[in-house]
Amino acid sequence: MKESLEKKFEEIFGAGGDVRTYFAPGRVNLIGEHTDYNGGHVFPCALTIGTYAAARRNDDGTLRFYSMNFEELGVITSSVDELKYRREDDWTNYPKGVIWAAKEKGYEIPCGMDVLFWGTIPNSSGLSSSASIEVLTGFVLKDLFGLSYDMIENALIGQYAENRFIGVNCGIMDQFAIAMGKEGHAIFLDTATLHYTYAPVRLDGIRIVIMNTNKKRGLGDSKYNERRAECEEALAELQTKVKIGSLGDLNEAQFNEYQDAIASPVRRKRARHAVLENQRTIRAVEALRAGDIEEFGRLMIASHESLRDDYEVTGKELDTLVSETLKQPGVIGARMTGAGFGGCAVSLVKEEAVDGLIAAVEAAYTKEIGYAPTFYVVDIGSGPRRL
Ligand code: GLA
Repeated sequence: MKESLEKKFEEIFGAGGDVRTYFAPGRVNLIGEHTDYNGGHVFPCALTIGTYAAARRNDDGTLRFYSMNFEELGVITSSVDELKYRREDDWTNYPKGVIWAAKEKGYEIPCGMDVLFWGTIPNSSGLSSSASIEVLTGFVLKDLFGLSYDMIENALIGQYAENRFIGVNCGIMDQFAIAMGKEGHAIFLDTATLHYTYAPVRLDGIRIVIMNTNKKRGLGDSKYNERRAECEEALAELQTKVKIGSLGDLNEAQFNEYQDAIASPVRRKRARHAVLENQRTIRAVEALRAGDIEEFGRLMIASHESLRDDYEVTGKELDTLVSETLKQPGVIGARMTGAGFGGCAVSLVKEEAVDGLIAAVEAAYTKEIGYAPTFYVVDIGSGPRRL
């Protein structure tokens, strides 16, 4: 990969100088969905698929970006001193946003750079191709310009770019999972404190199978911000009755005790999901640590049901994928993953059952939805690195 990136870089930007190559992963969340902006826990892991970059400092103040995934767009340029979101700059708003965010946080970017990207994460799949570009850009900046931030701050800079430059009000899960990824482990992260531990995901004879609905995203982002607002309102209502900082501070019994403070039934459902999903995530990690993968699988299924019925972020495509998957032999658990409204589901499947499952779910989904899903049998990879 390193050689082919370098070769393409030279072709696009010319030879010479100190060209460095890098990688940052994508992520999949195993459980703990829509909890990260509610002060709850998440349990994502980094993947071995991700985003590659080849980069070199230049001696002018220009940023030149090129993606092998969007060759038709050619080289897109910006000035390092004038970083603004511009629609026509397309995907380069992500790296630009990170450079802007790093500068906002007080880091000095002394000159421009030429960067070539190549991504192996399917776009709009919910496997965080954008967070992967963001964290990778932060990592490239850190290395090329000797910036002093650690990997957690690298993640926070990526989130800041997404929130303030791109305008998506996401939580910290995606950027954190990518920046802090560790091979063979998932990250049990308390999003209220950013305290985290690694949990080994030893899945002897079991594979992680990701299933892409291939549904084109539509209203996803606005619905995401709407759910966030509903939770914030529910929290404010609860705070009139009980002293809490976030929905993640409540357990099930406390929620039941105070839920009447939430005036609307819809907001009550949203808050119930946030509270119970956080509790499920804590229990799921305990189960995994105790070697009880069956319980982990049951909690994944309960997570999907809650996202479907209380949080209402699944939709026909994800529900079909998950329900067809659960009909197959050898399945430990399955659920939607990421923001929802399309994107991917994740399942744990016994190795010998994987091929049969893919064939059966593909046929049933295609019949029901009218187009085929895509499957990825993935491994848990590590965080950003120089190649
Ligand atoms: C998206 C966001 C994350 C998180 C998930 C839902 O991936 O970027 O911050 O909120 O949705 O769990």
